[in-house]
Amino acid sequence: EDAALLAAFQARVDAEEKIEPNDWMPEAYRKTLVRQISQHAHSEIVGMLPEGNWISRAPTLKRKAALLAKVQDEGGHGLYLYSAAETLGVSREELTEQLLSGKAKYSSIFNYPTLTWADIGAIGWLVDGAAIMNQIPLCRCSFGPYSRAMIRVCKEESFHQRQGYELLLEMCRSSEEQKEMVQDALNRWWWPSLMMFGPSDTDSKHSAQSMAWKIKRFTNDELRQKFVDATVPQAHYLGLTLPDPDLKFNEETGHWEYGEIDWEEFSRVVAGNGPCNRERLDARRKAWDEGAWVREASLAYAEKRRNRREA
Ligand code: 3HC
Repeated sequence: EDAALLAAFQARVDAEEKIEPNDWMPEAYRKTLVRQISQHAHSEIVGMLPEGNWISRAPTLKRKAALLAKVQDEGGHGLYLYSAAETLGVSREELTEQLLSGKAKYSSIFNYPTLTWADIGAIGWLVDGAAIMNQIPLCRCSFGPYSRAMIRVCKEESFHQRQGYELLLEMCRSSEEQKEMVQDALNRWWWPSLMMFGPSDTDSKHSAQSMAWKIKRFTNDELRQKFVDATVPQAHYLGLTLPDPDLKFNEETGHWEYGEIDWEEFSRVVAGNGPCNRERLDARRKAWDEGAWVREASLAYAEKRRNRREA
C-alpha cells in the first residue's frame, strides 16, 4: 500500500483518533479486526450454551431471572459485535458459516462443561471477571464501531460478574457441602479462565501489531496479571483455596505470582479437542437449522412491507 497513506493512517491512530468504517485503512488492519471482532462475537453466542443448560434448573426464581437476563445479554453482545464486524465488509452468513464449519475460533473457556450450579457462579465471577479485564481496554480501541460496542457491553458485564460472585458468597455461607461445590468449581474453572487471555506474550503472534494499531492496549500477560491480582483476594474472601500450589504474593512487585499454565491443554481446546467443543458446535448448527424458518419469515415480511410502502 501507498507509504504516505500508511503514515497518515498511523498518525491518526497515534493521535488517538477513531478510525471509522469508511475511512482509509490498511488491508491488514481490516483483516485483523474482522478476525478479532468476529471471534469475539462467536464467543458471546457460544458462551450462552454452558449457562443456558442451567436456566431450567436454577434453585430460585431470583437466580433464574438473573441467569436469563445474563444469557440474553450475551446474545445481545454477539449481535453488537457481528454488526461491528459487518461494517468491515463481511456478511453475517459468511461469519456464521466460518463458525459452524469449525473454521473460526471462539474463546476456549466455553468448551468446558457446567457440572453443578456453583459453575454458574464461577462463570459469572471468573469468566465475566476475565472478560471485563479484557473488554475495558477495548473500549479505547482505535476502531470506532468496536470501541462503541465495548462501552455498551462493559456496562452489562459488571452485573454479570457481581451476580456470579454474590451467588458463590451465598453458597459459601450456606453449608459445608455447598462450599465444597464452590471449591470444586474454582478448581475446574481457574486455569481455563487464565487461558482466556491468550498465549503468553512471547507466543502471541498478533500482540505487537495490535498494540501498534491501538486495538490492544495491554498485552495478554499484563491483563492476565491484573485479573490474578484482583481475583485472588476475592477467592480468599470466600474462604477458598486457589488450585495453584505455586501461587505466592510478591511483596516487592505487589503482584500474585502464579504457576505454569498448561499450554498443551490450551492448544488442544483451541484446536477443537476440548471437553465440549463438538457439543457446542452441534448445538449452534441445530439452532441455525431450526431457526431458518424464522429468518425466512422475517425476510418475507420485510419484503411484503417494502412492497406495500412502494405500492
Ligand atoms: N480461545 C481461543 N483462541 C484464542 C484464545 C482463546 N482463549 N486466545 C488466543 N486465541 C487465538 C487468537 O485468536 C489467535 O488465533 P487466530 O490468529 O486464528 O485468531 C491466536 O490464538 C494467537 O493469539 P494472539 O494473542 O496472538 O491473538 P490476539 O491478539 O487476537 O489476542 C485475545 C487474543 C486476547 C483473545 C484477543 O483476540 C481479544 O481481546 N479478543 C476480544 C475479546 C474476547 O474474545 N474475549 C474472550 C471471550 S468473550 C467473553 O468472555 C464474553 C463474556 O460476556 C462471557
